[in-house]
Amino acid sequence: MTERSDGAHVALSGALVVFGATGDLAGRKLYPALTRLAERNQIPKRFAVIGVARTEMSDEDFAARAPGLAARGVSFHYVAGSFDDEDTFVRLKETLDACDVKHGTAGNRLYYLATVPSAFAKVARALGAEGMAEEPPGTFRRLVIEKPFGHDLATAQELDDELHAVFQEHQIFRIDHYLAKETVQNILALRFANAIFEPLWNRRYVDHVELTVAESLGVGHRGTFYEQAGALRDIVQNHLLQVLALTAMEPPASFAADAVRDEKVKLLRSIRPLQPWDLPQLVVRGEYSAGVVDGEPVPGYRDEEGVSPDSTTETFLALRLEIDNWRWAGVPFFVRTGKRLARRVTEVAVRYKQVPFLPLPKSAVDSIEPNTTVLRIQPDEGIEVSFGAKVPGSPFRVRTVDLDFSYQEAFDEDPPEAYERVIFDALQGDATLFLRSDEVLQSWRVVMPIVEAFEHNALPLCFYEAGSWGPPEADALLGHEDKDHWRTP
Ligand SMILES: NC(=O)c1ccc[n+]([C@@H]2O[C@H](COP(=O)([O-])OP(=O)(O)OC[C@H]3O[C@@H](n4cnc5c(N)ncnc54)[C@H](OP(=O)(O)O)[C@@H]3O)[C@@H](O)[C@H]2O)c1
Repeated sequence: MTERSDGAHVALSGALVVFGATGDLAGRKLYPALTRLAERNQIPKRFAVIGVARTEMSDEDFAARAPGLAARGVSFHYVAGSFDDEDTFVRLKETLDACDVKHGTAGNRLYYLATVPSAFAKVARALGAEGMAEEPPGTFRRLVIEKPFGHDLATAQELDDELHAVFQEHQIFRIDHYLAKETVQNILALRFANAIFEPLWNRRYVDHVELTVAESLGVGHRGTFYEQAGALRDIVQNHLLQVLALTAMEPPASFAADAVRDEKVKLLRSIRPLQPWDLPQLVVRGEYSAGVVDGEPVPGYRDEEGVSPDSTTETFLALRLEIDNWRWAGVPFFVRTGKRLARRVTEVAVRYKQVPFLPLPKSAVDSIEPNTTVLRIQPDEGIEVSFGAKVPGSPFRVRTVDLDFSYQEAFDEDPPEAYERVIFDALQGDATLFLRSDEVLQSWRVVMPIVEAFEHNALPLCFYEAGSWGPPEADALLGHEDKDHWRTP
């Protein structure tokens, strides 16, 4: 190991195997991330990248997919073959063993499953069968696994069992690329490195919390994929519940992987189980119809490529969740996500209670909003605190104003892209930003009643115009008074 300026260690040697080397994720995210890591000297000194996929290609053609890396002495190899064919893994093993001898990769292997989910268990089994999963003393063999982790609780459990038949939990790195975003990690810094927020972060002062993951894009060319996923599986079960867990969990004993993950699991376990009969009051399912986004007319979901003309797949989902613990009892958490919403934004808004008594006439405070701390995760990453201030002059009036902190303005450093962090941490064996088995299964437990309700079409489908903030029914989740509506981010 060598030490970087920030104290993190870079593994000295190892091989990265990309299963799905010709795919979209590999080309768009993994190779550019590797190139940037190499530019910052954050790849192992003795490093080899081995690609596996069915398309025929030479080692040189493969190396050309990550320009700049070969020039830095990284050796590139490509194994063409199907995951269904035992011979693919025999040849892969020969290639890896040869790399150990020729390039000093020392038996360390990071297997990255950048391929179709139906191949995850198959590849793990084949690695086990060829004796490539077991860690000889002094080496590592790690498996990085992309989302989705299962299609529901039963298939997630099945996949977990298949992986555990071959790999031990400490070898499995389940990605939620949201966790690798700097501003998501900053939720931890904000909460646990400051004295001014945490004392307010509980049921005594917080009225409710709103989490929004809004996209302005539609499904694009991914209609066929999205038909199988929907907002629940694409965003809520994984990213939204992770952001919720970091926002609401108790302070961990340290920032070590298991200390943080223990607290997240504890929080996920505290989410009150959704009862089927309560769902109509707690869940709003939406689908976008034609509208205007950024001044451009856009089609409705049912008219998108690869989408069934009578599809009931949700492109919007809003939920009211309760957390049954001492900190949060009685504080609702409202979460929402959607495609084709007014703009792209991910944020957590903590809305505080009103002061117990206002020594001002009602006319002086009519337009005052509740105090709010907003953690802006993307874009324009930052933190905003809103509060009431006196409007200059007379009569005495109070209006809401903001304190705004922007990452870009405060720091010169470019934050690493999420996939740089994913690859770097997996090579170091730091699992803090990856999901542990029990976290994934708990998240599925939370959403399963909704999965089942959708399967039985037991909840109404509410349409919303593309370019809006979702169906009006979503406001009703917050309450029935005029003031009860989602914050406009
Ligand atoms: N794309 C994204 O932006 C994105 C974002 C987040 C997560 N993910 C996840 O990342 C994973 C990969 O997604 P993707 O979009 O990159 O998929 P993709 O473009 O369809 O790529 C799949 C890759 O797997 C290979 N492959 C498929 N079946 C194979 C088989 N039987 N034997 C050998 N190779 C096989 C394909 O290569 P050949 O056809 O050459 O064999 C290709 O390289 C998925 O789990 C996805 O959910 C993707």
